[in-house]
Amino acid sequence: MTTPVESTHQLELVGVEVTEALGERIGESAAAGLVIDLRGELGAGKTALVRGLARGLGVEGMVRSPTFMIVSLHKGPISLLHVDAYRLEDPAELALHGWDDWLASSVIAVEWADRVEAILPARRLRVDLAHQGVNVRTARICATGPSSRDGVALVYERAIVC
Ligand SMILES: Nc1ncnc2c1ncn2[C@@H]1O[C@H](COP(=O)(O)OP(=O)(O)OP(=O)(O)O)[C@@H](O)[C@H]1O
Ligand SMILES: [Mg+2]
Repeated sequence: MTTPVESTHQLELVGVEVTEALGERIGESAAAGLVIDLRGELGAGKTALVRGLARGLGVEGMVRSPTFMIVSLHKGPISLLHVDAYRLEDPAELALHGWDDWLASSVIAVEWADRVEAILPARRLRVDLAHQGVNVRTARICATGPSSRDGVALVYERAIVC
């Protein structure tokens, strides 16, 4: 049996549309149960990536920066739960929003994932975004948790090839 090669891969994202295209590639190969852990400072492009993700998944509704909302649901062939944990006081609050059910049936994208790390599954796709210039960002992508040839590995492999 071959062990899948998974490491951290860095992409340079020149222009917001390139960040959206990364999200779209992830969405196109995602299956229910995938959790995407998004990190990076204000304006790093987390919501831009989720916008592309929504396109790749073919879900309904516009993805916005949910200023006062913690979760928004986009229904589709595979539904997308968009979480913004920036204002979340306690990760346990997410359980009140039906977290476990969504975990089983949808793709979940979490902005400010560092704030809810305790409730995230060990096996997930992590994307760290950082500013490099006005229109340039870097994305460090990795599949966390025990390495296995699963849906997370597949999404990782497709995401890093542009
Ligand atoms: N290469 C790029 N990738 C992503 N966004 C870019 C890029 N270049 C410029 N931008 C701009 O940076 C901003 C990114 O905003 P976005 O809301 O996606 O960030 P965010 O990480 O979700 O911020 P917040 O922490 O406030 O939720 C947008 O205005 C976008 O047009
Ligand atoms: Mg955002």
